Amino acid sequence: MFSHKALEKNIGWLMVLTFVVVSVGGLVQIVPLFFQKSTTQPVEGLMPYNALELTGRDIYIREGCVGCHSQMVRPFRAETERYGHFSVAGEFTYDRPFLWGSKRTGPDLHRVGGRYSDNWHYTHMMNPRDVVPESNMPAYPWLADAAADASTIQKKMTVLKSWAGHPYTDEEIAQAPEMLQGKSEMDALIAYLQVLGTHAPKAK
Ligand code: HEC
Repeated sequence: MFSHKALEKNIGWLMVLTFVVVSVGGLVQIVPLFFQKSTTQPVEGLMPYNALELTGRDIYIREGCVGCHSQMVRPFRAETERYGHFSVAGEFTYDRPFLWGSKRTGPDLHRVGGRYSDNWHYTHMMNPRDVVPESNMPAYPWLADAAADASTIQKKMTVLKSWAGHPYTDEEIAQAPEMLQGKSEMDALIAYLQVLGTHAPKAK
């Protein structure tokens, strides 16, 4: 009854068995990743984003930077020569949601931390053309005037700690609003950009 020929003519069985085969194939690829250290453990020295960086990250999300910038250096020579070490899974442990992106109107930003000074970023965000004349990136001058929002930061960190296991100490959560005091959204965004990808594995 289950000759291949018969199966190909029976759409119901064909659908069911195709599903079974694809599922097994999927499981074989996916399940081992749950048990592999390189995909489940943070890379050495990785810390969850502090209050200022976390606030900057939310501004990055709000402003849609991910629509033009990826955060995922692929393991190809053309990418590693330009950006640095390719991204590894253990660098994204505290990225919720991840911001890998899929569009590169601008360059990948996963290794941008430490590449420029805070001042450079400030000038660039106020008006990209001031530092990169041919840039078509939009300017974000209002970030410099908007105060970083401290009203929800403790809640955010508490949720990330209790629901996602980010290792914040009670002290860090208690001091979070203080860290944001007097800071603009621009300060927060720059703090976030400066920490991006700074825990890249060292080249061997
Ligand atoms: C419409 C697309 C677009 C959007 C939206 C955008 N960018 Fe850009 N970005 C670019 C382009 C193009 C460049 C390359 C030219 C330049 O440096 O200005 C760039 C460059 C950069 C650089 C310098 C990267 C490097 O390695 O030289 C940073 C940092 C950056 N963008 C951050 C941001 C942030 C933060 C946001 C959101 C607030 C953002 N961008 C939104 C297009 C965009």
